Order: sequence, then C-alpha cells, then structure tokens
Amino acid sequence: MSVMQIPGHDHQRPREVALEEIRALMGDCQLCPLGATRTNLVFGVGNPHARVMFVGEGPGRNEDLQGEPFVGAAGKKLDSLLACAGLTRDEIYIANVIKCRPPSNRNPKSEEITACSPFLREQIRSIWPDVIVCLGNFASQFVLHTDAGVTTLRGRLHQAGHFVVAPTFHPAACIYHSDWQPLLEEDLRMVGRWLEEHPAEGPAQ
Ligand code: URA
Repeated sequence: MSVMQIPGHDHQRPREVALEEIRALMGDCQLCPLGATRTNLVFGVGNPHARVMFVGEGPGRNEDLQGEPFVGAAGKKLDSLLACAGLTRDEIYIANVIKCRPPSNRNPKSEEITACSPFLREQIRSIWPDVIVCLGNFASQFVLHTDAGVTTLRGRLHQAGHFVVAPTFHPAACIYHSDWQPLLEEDLRMVGRWLEEHPAEGPAQ
C-alpha cells in the first residue's frame, strides 16, 4: 500500500522506522537479477531529517563502485543545482527508485522497480520530508502514480498525500539536452520559494 496517495486518508506521520533498519532489511538483497551484477547496493545518503528528499532513477557506474547515489557526473550537476533551491547536500536526502545498477545503465525494468520500490517507499516514510524532488521520469511516475512524462509534469508543484512533489528533469538528461537546464533550475527555484514560504516547524535539525 502506498502512503503517497490514499484518498480520504489523513496522512498522519506513520511510526518512524529508522533508515538503518530499512537498510538492514535489504541485507544482501537478491529480490531481482540486478543483485547478481551490482558491485554495491546504493541505498541512499543524507540527512535523515531532511525537509527535501531527492529521488533519482538508479545507480550509474560511479555510484555502483562507490555505493553512494549521485557521485558521478550527474552528482556534480546536482550539486550545482541545489544552490538554486538554497539547499546544500547536508540538508537533503538522496535515494533512487532502484538501488542496484542496471547493466550498461539501461532503463530499469518494471519488475525491478516492483521488487525494489517498497524500500524507497519505506525511506520516504522514515524521512517524512516536506518536499520530494523527483529527478526524471522513473522517479516522477513512481511518486505520482502516473504514466505522464516529466515534460508535462514539471513546472508546477503537485500534492501526493502529505508530500509536496516537484517533478523535474534528470540532471544527467540536461547533459544532452542543454535547453532543459534552465527549466530544471527554474523548478528548483520554485522549490526554494516554497521552502521559504513554509518555514520548518520546530527546532532546526
Ligand atoms: N543517476 C541516478 O538517477 N541516480 C544516481 O544515483 C546517479 C545517476
């Protein structure tokens, strides 16, 4: 069951499960064939109390080797984009829809997403961010339960249960589509404005 879109549900924060517990549950995950070809399972990294969670697609080569999301070329892009939202890496949490690298960086298969996505769902429940920034089609479609593409979804904030969702282009896609870069920056500035207009409740973490 998804916590992200339950009509009529009050979307109270669920019992908090620590990220370490979720990671421990995954263990040496072999729920899909990517378990056999990965170097490292790339669980996620960042502030467990983040107001903003970024969700990417899946690990690339560098992420697979280092065991951390967004450390390669897409990571460098992401770092420079965070400033548009007034954010730094230590304020956010980053995870992917699938935790293991698909061979040759092919797109994730639907059965891989089905096997892996319950862990992302648990990570989202654990962090309980205010805003989820979805990088690219796979993340946007998973979080928003839609088949629509990011080109039509981006440019505005969506609500999915408790969460404000900002679908936008994947930073790696902007390496090939440089005309998308200003749109991605615009989307992140929109997130920055939302955060300013909705200051965090309680003490800063
Ligand atoms: N692209 C992604 O979607 N995730 C990563 O971790 C790296 C590149």
